[in-house]
Amino acid sequence: GGLMSGAKPQELAQPILGVPAKSAIYLTVTVRAGSEQAVREGLADVPGLKRSVGFRVPETGLSCVTGIGSRFWDRAYADLPRPSGLHPFIALTGSVHTAVSTPGDVFFHLRASQPDMCFELARQLMLHFDGMVDVEDEVYGFRYFDERDLLGFVDGTENPEPPVDDITAALIADDPLYNGGSYLVVQKYLHNMSAWDALPVEEQERVVGRTKLSDIELPDDVKPSNSHVALNVIEDADGNELQIVRDNLPFGRVGQSEFGTYFISYAADPAVTEQMLTNMFIGNPPGNYDRILDFSTAVTGCLFFVPPIGLLDDPESYADLPAEPCKSTNSTHSSRTDGSLGIGSLKRSGQ
Ligand code: HEM
Repeated sequence: GGLMSGAKPQELAQPILGVPAKSAIYLTVTVRAGSEQAVREGLADVPGLKRSVGFRVPETGLSCVTGIGSRFWDRAYADLPRPSGLHPFIALTGSVHTAVSTPGDVFFHLRASQPDMCFELARQLMLHFDGMVDVEDEVYGFRYFDERDLLGFVDGTENPEPPVDDITAALIADDPLYNGGSYLVVQKYLHNMSAWDALPVEEQERVVGRTKLSDIELPDDVKPSNSHVALNVIEDADGNELQIVRDNLPFGRVGQSEFGTYFISYAADPAVTEQMLTNMFIGNPPGNYDRILDFSTAVTGCLFFVPPIGLLDDPESYADLPAEPCKSTNSTHSSRTDGSLGIGSLKRSGQ
């Protein structure tokens, strides 16, 4: 069965954490009608494909994380209990800026120390799913010097630290069925570099909330309330900081004047990421939106459930598990509340 009682979340998880990568490929695909069951079965082979590519140059640390979007979950995994935080990315329309919600059934986050490794795995994945999926978005991220984004600021400094805080922030630990899972939120941002470069560095620092060269957080009495850092430091009702694990990378094409940041984040609870997005786009208080958005446009937005590794390998074992309380709000897809074992519906209907 997929439920490993007693196993720690990090022992059940896909390789989300602790993957220092110089290169990444972010692949967002949609699944063609009729290919649901084939893709579900094909996802079980992804770790094997990763091994085939990665084993030959192991020191590059090739890894692949697979996420499943809400609509595809309904189409292909309806025999399993619905992950409580899984829903389509919620578009946000602020007074000035919009967080768009765009299509995405399956997401592959490929990372390695060299781009050739990511590329070869992406190529093998597309061969494997040939005729079943369409690529909606494909981004090649690279680590820029000093871990900087294309705005010139060091990005990632205040991530929760390994090996404890990052696990707590990113991995589900309170759901016996899906412990080790995570919620992935991605957004592709394009920067207006001419407008950004026209700002004096001191002003750029007030946009981000940290110094540019030395990457020091501005003191509270200097840091504006609409700076990126001020709006993204959030707490729960008891004053505990709520965190996510980010692994943004720059991307671009100089000939197209395309300069971007691929925002990618993992959270045990997607409400944390959504609170940050609300602060950024709607503002806190409303109207006091993130000034980084005056120089950055979100052109995609997706939310995915990153299941524990065993679910991709053997989804049926999750459907067969003894009844667990189901947090689902979507009773038509629940196999836990009707007293049945919840097995087999896809096996019969998928042909
Ligand atoms: C911090 C860049 C989008 C959440 C930062 C920092 C930079 C940065 C330079 C400061 C250094 C650090 O601690 O990493 C960007 C860029 C973005 C972007 C260029 C896209 C245009 C987002 C989004 C979210 C987010 C969409 C959340 C939904 C955070 C958080 C911090 C942070 C939580 C750490 C705050 C702290 O604890 O001090 N980002 N970011 N960022 N960002 Fe972003």
